[in-house]
Amino acid sequence: MKPLDNLSTDESLNPQGKPVEPWEISSADFPHNGTTQEKWRFLLGYALLAPSNHNSQPWLFRIRGNELELYADRMRACHVVDPSDRELILSCGCALLHLRSALAHFAYLGSVELLPNPADPDLLARLSLGTQEETSRDESVLFYAIPKRRTNRQPFRDDPIPSALLSALQSATQDEFAWLHVLKSEQERHALADLIAEGDRRQWADKRFRLELASWVHPNRSSTRDGIPGYAQGVDDLMSYAGPLLVRTFDMGDGQAAMDYELATGSPALVIVGTDGDTPRDWLHAGQALARLLLRARVDDVWASFLNQAIELPDLRQRLGVSMGFTGFPQFCLRLGFGDDIKPTPRRDVDELLI
Ligand SMILES: Cc1cc2nc3c(=O)[nH]c(=O)nc-3n(C[C@H](O)[C@H](O)[C@H](O)COP(=O)(O)O)c2cc1C
Repeated sequence: MKPLDNLSTDESLNPQGKPVEPWEISSADFPHNGTTQEKWRFLLGYALLAPSNHNSQPWLFRIRGNELELYADRMRACHVVDPSDRELILSCGCALLHLRSALAHFAYLGSVELLPNPADPDLLARLSLGTQEETSRDESVLFYAIPKRRTNRQPFRDDPIPSALLSALQSATQDEFAWLHVLKSEQERHALADLIAEGDRRQWADKRFRLELASWVHPNRSSTRDGIPGYAQGVDDLMSYAGPLLVRTFDMGDGQAAMDYELATGSPALVIVGTDGDTPRDWLHAGQALARLLLRARVDDVWASFLNQAIELPDLRQRLGVSMGFTGFPQFCLRLGFGDDIKPTPRRDVDELLI
């Protein structure tokens, strides 16, 4: 593991080279003597750095004194790629893990209740501020990795992922009631890459998928605080202006399939994380497992990016399960590896997230 002070955030610059504020959050600014409201608002600064499908940031929060409620913001749902809101709730699970990690770091972790009101499926979690005797070093190490995490879609170097880290990632997912499958044989990797490529071709052939994706793809210099800027996909400033139009208009499925096949088979590690059930509660667990895994990987300088196509299409998800011999439900697929840092993506302000 790296020492904590190596986990600085000074590379968090936008394409203009200016600081990207949400990513510059510093634990030294925690309002230890502030009001409860001020504490929650500060902690939310870590929740909003969580990954989310298409960077939709589909979360809302309500501060009720000592308690904080996390709500699904279904207005931000991606109905085509995620018709059951599974990935939306996974994303909220990621924000929840960031919150838990920050609370634990500052020794304020109280209770955490998932889906506390059966009559309100949008209320995903209720947390309370507690008073812990001491903070856990393991949790603090993850906490310091929050501003260092990004989805890194570049090809990775060939260096293998140390088996000790893969074991640690396995424990990280188990801690959150999920399981992790590391694809070991070339046969398995090629079988998964085939399904991913098929998923790409089918998704891109669907005009509705392209329209939805195009609405979240933004030029590099856009001031929009959500969605995916071109630079996150390796697109330069000029080309990024054409991005939304190109995505909307052209079926680029064959090209995407070829690229993802290469990335899948060429990455040092491919993993699938799943759960035994497939309910909103399982999705919340899977989201927390995802965030814990991504942070733990960053602690050892490992990047990740998603290859979820074979899980997003129901028949491919079923075929994936059969071909890998899973008894449960795959929730997301990641490739892992070492590579260069990339610029962080935008985030909305805390004010926009409060009910
Ligand atoms: C549940 C979930 C599903 C995602 N699916 C994909 C995906 O299929 N392809 C992809 O490139 N990124 C995927 N992402 C990554 C998001 O696009 C990314 O988190 C978002 O753009 C914010 O960027 P950041 O992770 O660098 O902060 C997914 C993220 C989450 C949480």
